[in-house]
Amino acid sequence: MKRLSFLFLLIVFLGSGSSSEGEAAQGDLKKGKALYFTHCVECHGPDGQGHGSWPFSPSPADLTAPSIQEKSDYALWKSVHEGVPNSAMGSWKWVLSDREEAHLLTYVQSLAP
Ligand code: HEC
Repeated sequence: MKRLSFLFLLIVFLGSGSSSEGEAAQGDLKKGKALYFTHCVECHGPDGQGHGSWPFSPSPADLTAPSIQEKSDYALWKSVHEGVPNSAMGSWKWVLSDREEAHLLTYVQSLAP
């Protein structure tokens, strides 16, 4: 099942070139932004720099930092899908569809300074 959803995501990422209605095959930036502001903003902050409203330890990652932006698509996806152990970063696999995760990753990757 895990493998299947990763394969699905890979297909979403690589794209088949047949995206409908101008939606980017690898994930839609606008949809990703909307999802981010629904699910992620309270911890990662409006600019992604981790200045959300909650003081966590470890604190929410600065998503604009090179250490995050240099991660592979797979590594980023895994952090969102599975969560980060022993942190406030939970697993989103029950909340978000694979497609929504793809939109979010596109948005997160657009946060590179
Ligand atoms: C309840 C607070 C919280 C929410 C909500 C949250 N995060 Fe996080 N996130 C964290 C924390 C804390 C870390 C840092 C974990 C660490 O460094 O150990 C983190 C880390 C990350 C990382 C970096 C993981 C890595 O591999 O280093 C990414 C990417 C990320 N979050 C994306 C998201 C996305 C996308 C959402 C919305 C779907 C989201 N987060 C929602 C708290 C949160």
